[in-house]
Amino acid sequence: MPIETTATVVAEIPDDAELLAVPYAADLDPVHAVELHLPVPDLLAHYEAKGEAGEIVDVPVARAGGVGRVLLYGVGDGSPKALRKAAAALTRRAKGRDTLTVVVPAGDHAAFAEAALLAAYSFKIGEPGKKTVRALVLVGADEEQVRRAQTVARAVALTRDLANTPASVKNPAWLAEQAAERGLPVRVWDEEQLRADGFGGILAVGQGSASPPRLIQLSYTPAEPAQRHVVLVGKGITFDSGGLSLKPNENMKTQKTDMAGGAVVIAVLGALAELGAPVRVTGLVAAAENMPSGTSQRPSDVITHYGGRTVEVLNTDAEGRLVMADALAYADAELDPDVVVDIATLTGAITVALGRNLGAVYASDDLLAKQLLEAGEASDDRLWRMPLIDEYAAGLESSIADMANVESGSTYGAGSITAALFLREFSGKRPWAHLDIAGVGRSMVDEGTLSKGATGFGVRLLLEWLTRG
Ligand code: BES
Ligand code: MN
Ligand code: ZN
Repeated sequence: MPIETTATVVAEIPDDAELLAVPYAADLDPVHAVELHLPVPDLLAHYEAKGEAGEIVDVPVARAGGVGRVLLYGVGDGSPKALRKAAAALTRRAKGRDTLTVVVPAGDHAAFAEAALLAAYSFKIGEPGKKTVRALVLVGADEEQVRRAQTVARAVALTRDLANTPASVKNPAWLAEQAAERGLPVRVWDEEQLRADGFGGILAVGQGSASPPRLIQLSYTPAEPAQRHVVLVGKGITFDSGGLSLKPNENMKTQKTDMAGGAVVIAVLGALAELGAPVRVTGLVAAAENMPSGTSQRPSDVITHYGGRTVEVLNTDAEGRLVMADALAYADAELDPDVVVDIATLTGAITVALGRNLGAVYASDDLLAKQLLEAGEASDDRLWRMPLIDEYAAGLESSIADMANVESGSTYGAGSITAALFLREFSGKRPWAHLDIAGVGRSMVDEGTLSKGATGFGVRLLLEWLTRG
């Protein structure tokens, strides 16, 4: 469900504010500009407040109609990270209320408003749960920054919605319809067109499913002539059962979110115009459902990718790299990009390496890696650079095809690295980065800006990067 909470900016505290939040700094200094008629320092001392971000001192106050509340909230060091934490805590505390009026602290109002909105996200099919706060009234906030935050939060929510949607509802054609609703030129290859153009990887992965695969292309052109052309490629596996290399149930039940990378690409493309991004961007989503059936590809099949490279499929559960390879090869051959960035829930191994808080970035280019790492820090979608260890590529040798899709033995291990090395073969010689978001794509907790299930990781990162130019 899209975030229904609205964020508006006002100059003064409205007289009828039913629930008012007022910040205090790390030194417990109350904001003097606000006359609360409360002994704020005494209250903070009484509740043993420390001034940390996320801390809230909930004070009942006399109101004309009875008892109202003031939320005194800590902002820590006032950094964007601290403001995000403070804002998310406020939204969560205001659950079930119509309006939360917040006197905003000094600092990054985009980060503050974005986190406040994201904390309001929930996904529920059927009776809605306890309603989130309906309206955030931000006193003294920067209008421009709040507008930006709203656009970004909506894009994150769209990504979460697409990824949280059950696979009984979504399939590759459905994903293409969602892409077509973004108000941008879209091109969709159906099965026949995929065959005609030689997209052997996408076809092979999709051939076991009753729902045929698609390749989806979205195009954004800025108002001013652009200096750069960026191609984003997203993995769009609408359900990953593993195929004939079937997953056990425990691993399979999370795999409706295996199109999270594709959802990021769709939502990012949809938000670029509103944010006035100065670069030309083409989004590609390689969409297929990976299912076992009498028509599925088999372990040991050899497939021919877009552009002619052959791959021996030793494990049908390593399907993401097969669909991504086609899209990367197509981007290199046909789109003439300056930079290619792909995003995929590619390997369980990356969760072992980095856990659920850091996404992985692999890059053929140091400057691109640096830009993405910086955008990650700034946007709160944090990344860690992983190495492309050339020697490990030997693990992907095949005796009958150009490459195998997985290591046949376990000489090298490093499942996320070998997957990245596989993709590198198809990305051409251009600056290329690969984001493995299998660990960060889903959250186990409903906390802060996160809700259980799909996280939308990558949207804030890529929007930050693309709007910087
Ligand atoms: N979609 C999975 C990766 C994944 C695992 C995403 C857990 C999110 C949570 C991917 O297609 C996959 O199955 N990868 C295999 C690769 C292996 C067969 C080489 C894996 O990680 O086990
Ligand atoms: Mn798989
Ligand atoms: Zn997968």
